[in-house]
Amino acid sequence: MDVPGIREDFPCLHKEINGKLPIYLDTACTALRPKQVIDAMNEYYTEFPACGGRSVHKFGTEVTIRCDESRDQLQRLLNAERPEEIIFLKNTTEGINLLSHTLGLKKGDIVLTGDKEHNSNLVPWQVLTTRAGTKHQIFKSNDDGSFSMENLKEKLSPDVKLISIAEVSNLDGSTVPAKDLIEVAHDNGSLVLFDGAQSVPHRKMDVQELDLDFLCFSIHKMCGPSGMGVLYGKYDLLDGLDTFLVGGSSVADTTYDDYKLLRPPQKFEAGLQNFAGIIGTCAAVEYLMNIGMEEIHEYEKSLNRIATDLLSNIPGLTILGPGAAYRGGITAFIIDGMEPHDVAMILDEVANVMIRSGMHCNNSWFNDHGIRGSSRASFYIYNTEDEVRIFAEELEKIVQEFR
Ligand SMILES: Cc1ncc(COP(=O)(O)O)c(C=O)c1O
Repeated sequence: MDVPGIREDFPCLHKEINGKLPIYLDTACTALRPKQVIDAMNEYYTEFPACGGRSVHKFGTEVTIRCDESRDQLQRLLNAERPEEIIFLKNTTEGINLLSHTLGLKKGDIVLTGDKEHNSNLVPWQVLTTRAGTKHQIFKSNDDGSFSMENLKEKLSPDVKLISIAEVSNLDGSTVPAKDLIEVAHDNGSLVLFDGAQSVPHRKMDVQELDLDFLCFSIHKMCGPSGMGVLYGKYDLLDGLDTFLVGGSSVADTTYDDYKLLRPPQKFEAGLQNFAGIIGTCAAVEYLMNIGMEEIHEYEKSLNRIATDLLSNIPGLTILGPGAAYRGGITAFIIDGMEPHDVAMILDEVANVMIRSGMHCNNSWFNDHGIRGSSRASFYIYNTEDEVRIFAEELEKIVQEFR
């Protein structure tokens, strides 16, 4: 992978702050954007800033073509069967909320999630219990944070209609065995929704090979614009869902008394869309696919191995989750006697090393474990081995001085 070449594409990596370049290790929160994405979005605003799918003039037609291209690009990324299986939304959170409203789950149905879900894959199911009388159950991970098939199987029953789980955890990077999990779920008659916020940007995803039912992810975590997300669903499943947001662009026709909905994806894309975002999405996906999703995954793992080795020598530091090989590009850690926010603030202050700290929207897991939060470094295509070393060295100095 041509990391120096990739870094050239990210303008913010070349602007010194207090005499030093920034070291951005917070991609699990949101990724940096290359100039190809920024240019694509600017192109929309400067060249053809009109409405797609409605107006028949040249600007409108250009937007429609670009949006179709973007959907096709995402179809290729996921190896979806049809572009109509790609729904443009705001983010992962909106995708999961959409499904919680439209799956038609009813009293007594069980939604099963893991024990390390982001609030966005927890609260919608908790709310549904009050709204529809469904039940929400959790199956626990192994003690080292890895996925437990045994614990999942123990929870299965005919009432489990949906298993909704982060394919890669933002809490510790641990990854579920996707194919096995889906097979087990389908044998039980359950649908599977992957929260792909931390997986789709970082590894090859083949929804047909996996036989995955639904997948939600956020484009801002994969070098694309903020405010863009995707819901993938098997076409027949999407076609059978209830409606969520409705209005202009989601209907074929209306009278004063009635309406006729369009079919997916339009059925779920009511109102004027984020056209610059959709066009920027296409550029981001193209950018990542040109590098290669498998290469990206391998590179992140190699950085994570270095980080894990170096951090393991720091006294009082515990890395959350299983070994480096199973944590993609995420290294989350706790330091005895130090507050995670202090660690993050000092790293930023002394070395421009930007990491995340706190509960990472995984409050339920931290509360259950009586832990106040963690610090988390996450690596992506623009990070270098040198940056990882600087991060580890600076962290070690901070621990020596402040712990
Ligand atoms: C695993 C996981 N799920 C869901 C989300 C929510 O993503 P968004 O805020 O883009 O909807 C995140 C964001 O950090 C995440 O890491």
